[in-house]
Amino acid sequence: MKKILTGVKPTGDQMHLGNLLGAVLPFKWIAEKNDAAIFIADLHALTSVKSAENLRRNTHEMALTYFSIFGIDTPVHIFRQSDIPLIPKLNWILNNVTPYSLMLRAHSFKDSEAKWLDLNMGVFNYPILMAADILAYDTDIVPVGADQRQHLEMTRDIAKAFNKTYKADIFKLPVEYIEPSVATLPGIDGRKMSKSYGNFIGLFDDDKTLKKKVMSIVTDSKGVDDVKNPDECNVFALIQTFATSDRTESIRAKYLSPGYGYGHAKLELLDILTEYLKPYHENRAMLERNPELIEARLQEGARIMNARIEAKMEEVKKVVGL
Ligand code: ADP
Ligand code: TRP
Repeated sequence: MKKILTGVKPTGDQMHLGNLLGAVLPFKWIAEKNDAAIFIADLHALTSVKSAENLRRNTHEMALTYFSIFGIDTPVHIFRQSDIPLIPKLNWILNNVTPYSLMLRAHSFKDSEAKWLDLNMGVFNYPILMAADILAYDTDIVPVGADQRQHLEMTRDIAKAFNKTYKADIFKLPVEYIEPSVATLPGIDGRKMSKSYGNFIGLFDDDKTLKKKVMSIVTDSKGVDDVKNPDECNVFALIQTFATSDRTESIRAKYLSPGYGYGHAKLELLDILTEYLKPYHENRAMLERNPELIEARLQEGARIMNARIEAKMEEVKKVVGL
C-alpha cells in the first residue's frame, strides 16, 4: 500500500464533469486501493482569497463536494490543511534549507509576476508550504495536474537539501502522478469543457440549469430526417461518455436513420445525465441536511494526519536541535 496525498485549493470554482472524469474519479479509484488522503488547502488559498466569508464558504463547498463524491464513509482521509498546526512549523524549518535561487525559478511566482497579480510573500513561499504538506506524512505519490509538476520537483529538491544538511534520511522523496488524459470531454460549445470557457456542465447544476445547458449544446444544422454522423456530434460524445454501451449503440443506430433529430438526442442525454448525477445529488442533499457529519469526518481526518506529522516532527526536531 502506497501513501497517496493530494491537496485542492478552495478557490470557489464549481466542479464540472471534465474535472470529475479527468481528475477526481481517477484519483478516487487509486485512493481507495491505497492509504490515501486529500486535503483542502485553505492556507494556500490565503495567497489570493482575501474575504473570510468567501474562504469559509469555498472550504465548506469543497468538503461537501468531495464527501458527496467519495461518500461520507470513505476510507480516504479528508481534512483541512489549517487543522494541522505543525504544517506552518515544518514550513518554517524547510524555509531554511531552501535556496532562494530555487524559489526564483518557480513558474507559479513568475506567472503572478508577469500578470501583475498581488505579489505577496505567500505567493513566493507557496511551493515550500506545499513541500511541507507532502513531506510531513512520508507521502509516496502525489496525484496532481500537469501544472504542479515543478512543485513536486521542488519538493524533492527541498527534501534532499534537508537530508543533506542534517546528514539524516528524514524525508522520503515523493513522485507526482499525472493522469494521462485519454479523452478530453467537450463542453456545450464543442471545445474542451473548461471553467475558463464557461462551457461546462457542473456536477451540481440543478435540473433547470442542466436542461438549459444540454438543450444549448452546439450541433450542425441537419434536420430530423437527415442521416447524422454520431462521431462528429458533441451531443453524442457526451452520450457515449455517460450512457451504458447498450444505450449508446441504440442511439448510434437512431443517428443513422431518418426521423431522429438533435432535439431527441438532447432529451436522451438529459435523461442519461440526470441518472448519472443522481447519486452525487442525493449524497449532497443528505449532507446539506446534516453538516455535522462533514465536520466530524474532517476532524477525524485531521486527527489521523496530526498523529503522523507529530511523529515526523519528533525526528525533525531531533536532527535540527529544537
Ligand atoms: P479547467 O479547464 O476547468 O480550468 P482545470 O485545469 O482546473 O480545469 O482541471 C483540473 C483537472 O481536471 C485537470 O488536471 C484535468 O485532468 C481535468 N479536466 C479538466 N477539464 C477536463 C476535460 N474537459 N476533460 C477531461 N479532463 C478534464
Ligand atoms: N498547489 C496545488 C494546486 O494549486 C494545491 C496543493 C497544495 C497541493 N498543497 C498540495 C497539491 C500538496 C498536492 C500536494 O493545485
